[in-house]
Amino acid sequence: MNQMTRKPGEKSLNHLFQPVEWGRFKVKNRIKYGACCVSNYNTRDGFITPRELARTKVIAETGCGIITNQGAYPDPEGLGKAYFRQVAIFDDKFLPQFEMIARMIKDNGGMAIQQILHAGRYGGIDLGYCIQPSIVPQTLPHFRPPREITKEQIRQTIKEHAEAAARSIKAGFDGTEVTSFMGYLLATFNSKFTNKRTDEYGGSIENRGRFMRELIDAIKQATPDHPLVVRLNGTELMDKWGGNSEDECFELMEQAGRCGVDMISVTVGWQEAPKSSIGRDIPPGHWNYLAARAKKLLPDTPVAFGVRLPDPIMANECLAEGQFDFWEVCRPLLADPELIHKASEGRLNEVKRCIGSLNCLSRLFRDLPYTCTMNPALGHEIEPEYNVKPAAVHKNVMIVGAGPAGMECAITAKRRGHDVVVFERSERIGGSLVGYATHDLAHKDDLKSVVAYYEVMAKKLGIEVRLNTEINPKLMRGILHQFDAAVVATGVRIDMLALPAPEAPGILVSAQDVALGRVPPARKLVVIGGGKVGLTLAESLKSSGYEVTVIEREKENCRRRNAVVEMASYRLDRGVGNSDLHQQSSHPDRQRRRHHCRRQRRGKKDRSRDGDRRVASSG
Ligand SMILES: Cc1cc2nc3c(=O)[nH]c(=O)nc-3n(C[C@H](O)[C@H](O)[C@H](O)COP(=O)(O)O)c2cc1C
Ligand code: SF4
Repeated sequence: MNQMTRKPGEKSLNHLFQPVEWGRFKVKNRIKYGACCVSNYNTRDGFITPRELARTKVIAETGCGIITNQGAYPDPEGLGKAYFRQVAIFDDKFLPQFEMIARMIKDNGGMAIQQILHAGRYGGIDLGYCIQPSIVPQTLPHFRPPREITKEQIRQTIKEHAEAAARSIKAGFDGTEVTSFMGYLLATFNSKFTNKRTDEYGGSIENRGRFMRELIDAIKQATPDHPLVVRLNGTELMDKWGGNSEDECFELMEQAGRCGVDMISVTVGWQEAPKSSIGRDIPPGHWNYLAARAKKLLPDTPVAFGVRLPDPIMANECLAEGQFDFWEVCRPLLADPELIHKASEGRLNEVKRCIGSLNCLSRLFRDLPYTCTMNPALGHEIEPEYNVKPAAVHKNVMIVGAGPAGMECAITAKRRGHDVVVFERSERIGGSLVGYATHDLAHKDDLKSVVAYYEVMAKKLGIEVRLNTEINPKLMRGILHQFDAAVVATGVRIDMLALPAPEAPGILVSAQDVALGRVPPARKLVVIGGGKVGLTLAESLKSSGYEVTVIEREKENCRRRNAVVEMASYRLDRGVGNSDLHQQSSHPDRQRRRHHCRRQRRGKKDRSRDGDRRVASSG
């Protein structure tokens, strides 16, 4: 590329934007879009819908050099089917939509890869069972009971993968990918946790890798001139269940390399792994060492990596150091599909970062269209009202509240050409998020980046934000005539009156006020409400040395949230401090107040009164 014509970001992130050759293909940069179900809007029988195509168009336009299309299951029975709306590729009848997708990707200058995803242990979603090498029950409840795959089925499954690969090439894709991401069929053969076979497909690591080697051979034979990528675990995080060690994972990678695979994509963890792999508690860059190890082991095989590596600057540095060959990025492009373009234009401060909340993935397996915490348009691309267009009639818009809702509204209104004034009672943009970002133990920078994004966009778009301005009826009467529309975006309020009356003023305070530093916490605190707000604050205060008790109203919630509390303790155990967060039912509404007093009279211990200060996070 001519240095003179390079955009500013392409110069500073020169490794990322370096065109490279991959076999006989020229790739325009070293960025690969990591396979990801598109929006969960396929039909129940595996056809890609116009809604999916509209979303895929956004993916095709991200600017990545290689784009991996969502994983399709390869068998007609649906044993490989991981979630209800997974797309299928076991028959030519599915081809027209795949052809459209391959064309979309190529029209945007990308290389098109089709992923084949057989879910194995997590598959058979429409059936009463699933298959895997041996009968090893899943450690989570919501999967189908496993049956042992027969040798005949192994041969058939490999054949179906090869046919699916050939079909992908027929549709116009440049290459294919097989995934063992998160414990799918390939991973279950490789892992000693799920592979207890006594025939040539089980036992030694050489035998456990046989299925993978035969799969690679079959696909390479079916599509000899086209690259094949295999996604393999760098670590399974399944030690608790007797899974593979990291050394074994790399031995399997070496086998794949020896077999002539064209790229290895390094992944982390299984769905059942008791430890986090891609959540917010994993700091960006945490897993890079796995990619570096793979690259060292296989210097001649291209390595793709990007798990929880959302930062293009860090990715560029890794490429410069030779830790991997392609930055494989998924969720950061869900949160901001413009990420690569902004990076190339030197506008990284305008990127809406993925905060690792996992809203997206968690909805997929509940048969819900997935959504993104940061990108409200995700999955709605086909709906005209989600495409921001100039407004037919110009308006003056007032927005009350500069939290995320108010700022999103302001940005959209401004982009449509309206004049916008935002009124904010505090001294800065961000609303309650500012407070929770400060108290977030998972990774403060994630939430802080959201606040920073709104500050940058307000400046860039020329949105007037009047800080330290509380809107009250008097002020409203005085200014409302200046505006055509008013939007109230003042966020949630905790209903303090719904809680037991405090015996003295200042004892019962709102979580928002504590989070934002408006009220100093007392040494001994009771946090009322074990939801996200309550637990985030409780964890943070606990780690700062306060004595904290969390109480929770609903028994059901208590049960559901046990996992969260455990997670909190787990995080604290990992060095932030010791956890002794308690749980107890509270009685927060007025109707229950009498019952609450009765309990007290009967002498039952009421922990909501334990602390010097009660912090309401629900009401
Ligand atoms: C909603 C969602 C769907 C995904 N679907 C697939 C898939 O079909 N096949 C696959 O190999 N990986 C899938 N992944 C994993 C991603 O490709 C990627 O490896 C993972 O999200 C970590 O990278 P990131 O931190 O850039 O998101 C999915 C991830 C998400 C969030
Ligand atoms: S839902 Fe959360 S994890 Fe998923 S892409 Fe959006 S911000 Fe990232």
